[in-house]
Amino acid sequence: MSPRFMMVDPAHYAVSYAINPWMSPRLWQADSEGLHAAARAASANLADALRLAGAEIEMVAGHPGAPDLVFPANAATLLDRRVLLARFLHPERRVEEPVFARAFAALRERDLVDEVAELPEGAVQEGAGDAIFDAGRALFWAAHGQRSNRQGLEAVAGFFGRETVALELATPKFYHLDTCFCPLPGGEVLYYPQAFTAEGQGLIRDRVDASQRIEASDEDAARFCVNAVAIGRTVIMAQAAERLRATLAERGYRVVDIDLAPFILSGGGAYCMTLRLDRAAVEPASLHRAA
Ligand code: ARG
Repeated sequence: MSPRFMMVDPAHYAVSYAINPWMSPRLWQADSEGLHAAARAASANLADALRLAGAEIEMVAGHPGAPDLVFPANAATLLDRRVLLARFLHPERRVEEPVFARAFAALRERDLVDEVAELPEGAVQEGAGDAIFDAGRALFWAAHGQRSNRQGLEAVAGFFGRETVALELATPKFYHLDTCFCPLPGGEVLYYPQAFTAEGQGLIRDRVDASQRIEASDEDAARFCVNAVAIGRTVIMAQAAERLRATLAERGYRVVDIDLAPFILSGGGAYCMTLRLDRAAVEPASLHRAA
């Protein structure tokens, strides 16, 4: 079974409002046609890289008036074919909720997922952007403090019945967990410490052995390289600095980097342009090992 990812066609992508410090509608407007063409190419390159790494892509149609729909990591949290739909903090993105709800209903009809649920009243939670399952440690790392609230985080913990480590995000620049935290298949965690409160940094150090912590530099974080998709030993990310590429290579990973500049202009990179649909608590590889 190949890994399967949702992506969204960038036909209606633009930077038309600013809900994070990376977004500049003014910069977008200065060359909206050129940037739109570049975005289409970048999205196609990402899809190609995923396919080359063995993945299948479910491409969802874009929707007018919902430019950030291209970031499906924020649509839902998903594990073992169970989907917990997101609720966005900003009204600019709440318009995406019914669009994604329809997309997941269609996936259920095709038997690609089993269950699609909604968050309880009062919970705000921006999906797999803020709740990342770490298969090796069998737990969710989940953020609060920027886009998602504590209730949202508790809802993820309750719905999936999994241990959930609550990490508070310290700065609006790193407003989703996926901008600053990326567990890798070999057990390493690539992360940007400064994005977390001192307590959050402590929780990460408690759970992840020093030998498995890979600290991203300011430059890596600003290039959105922590926002990466790992498939086996292939790590797909926005244009990486040489040092990060070398660090990952030493640990047996091959970095495939893609120019995602038009999406970084909205505060997103490779991970948030995708949503892993077959995310499972027990990876097939470990099932094989156990057999
Ligand atoms: N403009 C989008 C927002 O601010 C970008 C989202 C990127 N997603 C992510 N998980 N980092 O919501």
